[in-house]
Amino acid sequence: MLIIKNIKQLIQVENKPKLKVCGSEMSKISTIENAFLIIENDLISVFGKMESYKFSSVEEKKHKIIDATGKMVFPSFCDSHTHLVYAGSREIEYVDKIKGLSYEEIAKRGGGILNSAKLLHNTSEDELYNQALARINEIISFGTGAVEIKSGYGLSTDDELKMLRVIKRLKETKPITIKATFLGAHAVPAEYKGRQTDYVDLVINEMIPSVAYEDLADYIDVFCDKGFFTTEDTERILMAGIKYGFKPKIHANELDYSGGIQVGVKYGALSVDHLEFTGDDEIKALKDSETMPTLLPGAAFFLGMVDPPVRKMIDAGLPVALASDFNPGSSPSGNMKFIMSLGCIKLRMLPEEVINAVTINSAYAMGISETHGSIAKGKIANVFITKPISSYEFMPYAYSSNLVDTVILNGKVIE
Ligand code: NIG
Ligand code: FE
Repeated sequence: MLIIKNIKQLIQVENKPKLKVCGSEMSKISTIENAFLIIENDLISVFGKMESYKFSSVEEKKHKIIDATGKMVFPSFCDSHTHLVYAGSREIEYVDKIKGLSYEEIAKRGGGILNSAKLLHNTSEDELYNQALARINEIISFGTGAVEIKSGYGLSTDDELKMLRVIKRLKETKPITIKATFLGAHAVPAEYKGRQTDYVDLVINEMIPSVAYEDLADYIDVFCDKGFFTTEDTERILMAGIKYGFKPKIHANELDYSGGIQVGVKYGALSVDHLEFTGDDEIKALKDSETMPTLLPGAAFFLGMVDPPVRKMIDAGLPVALASDFNPGSSPSGNMKFIMSLGCIKLRMLPEEVINAVTINSAYAMGISETHGSIAKGKIANVFITKPISSYEFMPYAYSSNLVDTVILNGKVIE
């Protein structure tokens, strides 16, 4: 047994676990002050106030005890949208952006996603694994306990499979929970320029069956946006993916009112992500659905683009999740604590709203909120202990300090 005692405040506790939190409920979190938490094997077992803590010092000797005086315990962050398996980096485009080029202009002249695809093609599977491993280790140390990772820098059947095999190997070798998403329709590769429909056919007829054959993905994604894939392309790809059992999770409305949100909802997407361009029609479509609207404030921040209308969405009763979008082009960071800060500073979300958005709602957005995303009996024991802090609001407030002291995944302290 692992016992954490004298916890200044235990954050996001649930006695009746919910799958997600919507609308005005998002501004509430349950906490216990002066608390203890008991973990048995890889699961959360018992928690409560120190007054009801029953272990004598003799009994304590039989277990691993952590004294968390002055510190808080959070459920690990769930990062439901990343592209963290990629080769190299793209800081040269970053400089181009500083000089005034837009994300779309860079993409049009063969930079952007196509640049990463070229780099990935020339990188071995082992090297790709090692580069991704360094990023996984970094996000674990920042407090992330579950992460979704997409393919989409392959853009050929072989290279998409290479990426997905790397994700599978990360799943097998690291204690963090990982979900894999097939994103063959991330960009049209150079050799298919002017023949977008032929590339969509390749995704449908060759890539999806191969990915399914090797059982390499949980979900399917399409970049449904201006200059990328149309709603018609998206419908065809989602229908094909659903036949193989891949639930959709799609990129939508980052660059325009693309119709992506409506398509995602129509095909029962677990989440639609980005949503900078969300109007009344999109909110209405989401309102009547089980799809989680997921915002990626790191990308809008890094690219200097418009922010999504999050207050309008929450006021309309919608749930909202936040994720990092960790990728080399629009958000080269997987720091979920910083994402909380961006949620507060840029999107004007309350600290309680961002805590719900990076835990239970982002767990829902990656299909794991029954087992992750809160401190609840029987959930996977993925939690972190903070450094001594004055309040939970201090987490998003101190926006560049690493306040994660100890990480526990599957009930084990990560050294
Ligand atoms: O989520 N929007 C599409 N895909 C990524 C960017 C990928 C890239 O530029 O490499 C995103 O922002
Ligand atoms: Fe993305």
